[in-house]
Formats: sequence, C-alpha cells, structure tokens
Amino acid sequence: MAESAELILDGKSITLPVIEGTEHEKAFDIGKLRDQTGYVTLDSGYKNTGATKSAITFLDGEEGILRYRGYPIEQLAEKSSFLEVAYLLIYGALPTEAELAHFSGQITKHTLVHEDMRKIFDGFPSATHPMAILSSLICALTGFYPQSVSPDLSPEEMELNIIRLLAKMPTIAAWTYKNNMGHPLNYPRNDMDYCANFLYMMFSFPTEKYEMNPVVVSALNKLLILHADHEQNCSTSTVRLVGSANASLYGSVSAGINALWGPLHGGANQEVIEMLEAIEADGGDTSKFINKAKDKNDPFRLMGFGHRVYKNFDPRAKIIKVAADEVLQALGMQDSPLLKIAQELEQAALTDQYFIDRKLYPNVDFYSGIIYKALGIPTEMFTVMFALGRLPGWIAQWKEMRENKEPIGRPRQIYTGELERDYVGIDARA
Ligand code: ACO
Repeated sequence: MAESAELILDGKSITLPVIEGTEHEKAFDIGKLRDQTGYVTLDSGYKNTGATKSAITFLDGEEGILRYRGYPIEQLAEKSSFLEVAYLLIYGALPTEAELAHFSGQITKHTLVHEDMRKIFDGFPSATHPMAILSSLICALTGFYPQSVSPDLSPEEMELNIIRLLAKMPTIAAWTYKNNMGHPLNYPRNDMDYCANFLYMMFSFPTEKYEMNPVVVSALNKLLILHADHEQNCSTSTVRLVGSANASLYGSVSAGINALWGPLHGGANQEVIEMLEAIEADGGDTSKFINKAKDKNDPFRLMGFGHRVYKNFDPRAKIIKVAADEVLQALGMQDSPLLKIAQELEQAALTDQYFIDRKLYPNVDFYSGIIYKALGIPTEMFTVMFALGRLPGWIAQWKEMRENKEPIGRPRQIYTGELERDYVGIDARA
C-alpha cells in the first residue's frame, strides 16, 4: 500500500499522500489541503517546503553530495568542460561528440551582441554595480529578440533563446568589467573555447599580446562547473517563480541575477576578500579574529566558513581548494600576505574545537574569492562570475518548469494586519 500520513483536524482525519523521490527523500503532498480543510501551511523561508519536483540536481548536505543529472560533481569537475556540463544540465544527458560540437559551434556563432548594446552602457552612472548592469542588459536582450517573450515558443525558438543567452552572457559580463574600468571593449574570439574567450575579453588589451595561462583557464572551467547549479536556492527559485508567470527566459534570468546579488546569497565570496583585507590592515593577527568569531557578544563571523545545507563538508570546496593552490603557484603568488592570512584562518578553524563542534568548514566561496582575487578580478565583479557559472542551472530549471507546464507560483499568507475599518477623512484624523 502506498505510504501516506494522517492529519487529524477538529476530529476529522485527512490523508496526505507521501511522495518519494528517486533518492528516497519524502514529502507530504498538501496540494489539496486548503480545499479539504481551509488551512494552509506556514513555512517562513521555505525551509521545509518543496516547491517543485525536479530531475536536475541532487544534493545531500549531511553527506556532502552534489550531483548534476546523477553525475558526481567531483567527476564532472575533473573530467568535463563547462559547456559539456551546461549541455548536461539543460538537456539531461552527456552529449555525444557530434552533439557537443554542434552545441559549442552554435554558441560560438552567437557570441557577438548587437552594437546598440554598447550604447546602453553609456546611460549607467559610473557608480553602478556590475550586477545591476548585468541584470539590465540580460533583460534588454528581449528588445533585440522580441520573439523571445512569446509564451508559446516552439522548441526551435526556445533552443535559440538558450543558445543566445549562453553565448552572449560572457561578452556582456566582460564588457561590464571593461566599461567600469574605462578600458576599450574586446570583441569575442571564436577560435577560443568558452573560458579562454571570457578571460581574453576580460584581460586583453588591443595594444599588447595576451598570454593565456592554461592553469587559469582550467581553474575557471572548474569554478564555473562547481557553481552551475545548486537546486532550489534563492536565485533559482526566483527564476522559476518569475518564469511560472510565462515571463521570458531573459526576463526570468535577469530577476535571478538580482536575487544572486543579495549579500546573503552570491555576495559571500566578496565578503571573504574584504575580511582578509581587513585582517591584513589590522596587522594580520588571525588569532584575534578567530577569537572574535567565537565571542558570542561579537557579531563578527568568519566569512567563507559554514553552510546552511552542507553540515560536514562542502564537496565543491574540496575541489576548488586544489585549484586555488595551483593557480597561486602558477601565478607565483604563493607568498602573498592575503593568502598567508587565508591559510592561517583555515588551519586555525579546522583545528579549533569551536569550529569542529559546530561543523564549520571553509565553503566554496572561501576559495573562489581567493582565486578571483589572484586573477585580478575586482571584488565587485565576483558575483558576476558566480552568475556566469550559475547560468546553465537557471536555464535548465526554467526550461524544466516550462516543459512540465507548472502552474503560476502564488504562495499564500497568514494575514496579521488590521481588521476591517472605515475610511476617515483627513481633517478628522488625530
Ligand atoms: N563564524 C563563526 N561562527 C559561526 C559561523 C562563522 N562563519 N557560522 C556559524 N557559526 C556559529 C553560530 O554562531 C552558531 O553558534 P552557536 O550554536 O554557538 O549559537 C552555530 O555556528 C550555528 O550557526 P547558524 O547561524 O545557526 O548556522 P546556519 O546554518 O544557519 O548558517 C551560514 C549558515 C549562514 C552560512 C553561516 O555559517 C555563516 O554566516 N557563514 C558565514 C557567511 C558565509 O560564508 N556564507 C556563504 C555560504 S556558502 C554559499 O552561499 C554559496
């Protein structure tokens, strides 16, 4: 007999079917609860609420497991390329050689953005944060491709929108940086792969030859793979919710970029570097900051330590730590004072009983911040890098939601405001 739960309410029994996922996670199906009882459930922050069924990403925070479409993140980070992972997330299977060649070829074909995009940059005040520019320009793609807003896209049109977004995002992201720096904008190089082309657009100048460091390209490939999806986090849920109103892919992803911009979500890697710089400016005494982090009367926390979901270790952090070491070695930065502080903090926290008891380990943001800093990416751009990595996940989740014809997302509430009262004219108000 199928498993179910029984809810007794006012002496009446309600049966709630139990839904089981392929990894045996279980949920009570409350889809008919309001009709049957007049009650809704209340779950602030959705900590216990599954908003959807999804076949894209599995994560188990207790065991430190992260898999895309069943493939362990460790294997993908070691053996795959970012575009192959993007294909896997979006279409559900690893591509054949021919499929990958076609997919990469299509993306390469669409890397240029409309020349009018350049004019939009001029309208932003110079203090505009790169994430504001990125989200605006991604939404602006709807103006260049008006058919993209149709709620009834053919599979071919949907495919073209996806390809365009994957192809143009690195160009737009790199131009955001170049524009902020006042540097000339670089056009994409279609003879380079996805990561190499992005680095070229970010760091090359028309005046000199750009030397590509393969260790850096490989580290970027890994970083983007590790960030490519993380199931129903805040920005991904935003993309799905906006998309559930039949909003376009570009509009939905633009909303996701704004969610990611929040310091509680994508902003942590920036805060890691700011913390390391603050420790350096203070004289570099890490034990002082470890003690501050342990002091209950001090709000200071070690940024880049701990995770809401991963309670034993962050599987992404293990992989990226190795890449961070390689990058620093390759760039001759292994003796940088900031890195020394990072290593001391890491060692102190891993051996300190306070952090051991609370299972506080360095998370992926701890090391990604260090890599971005070593590459010379300004801290304001760190979240843009995160967005570049998360793009295939957002696309895959938006597509899945559309293909499953999910209903418009519309949470309920428990109203706590005033009861009905009569309007009072302004001259009669106290
Ligand atoms: N430094 C010092 N103490 C910490 C830290 C930290 N970074 N993180 C948690 N603790 C302590 C808390 O004070 C608490 O101690 P107590 O039990 O004595 O009261 C205990 O550990 C549990 O902390 P919670 O806040 O309940 O843990 P939660 O799971 O809610 O928070 C979070 C997770 C938000 C990530 C937290 O660890 C934190 O603030 N870390 C620093 C910010 C950070 O790196 N965020 C990035 C996360 S990764 C990502 O988003 C991609």
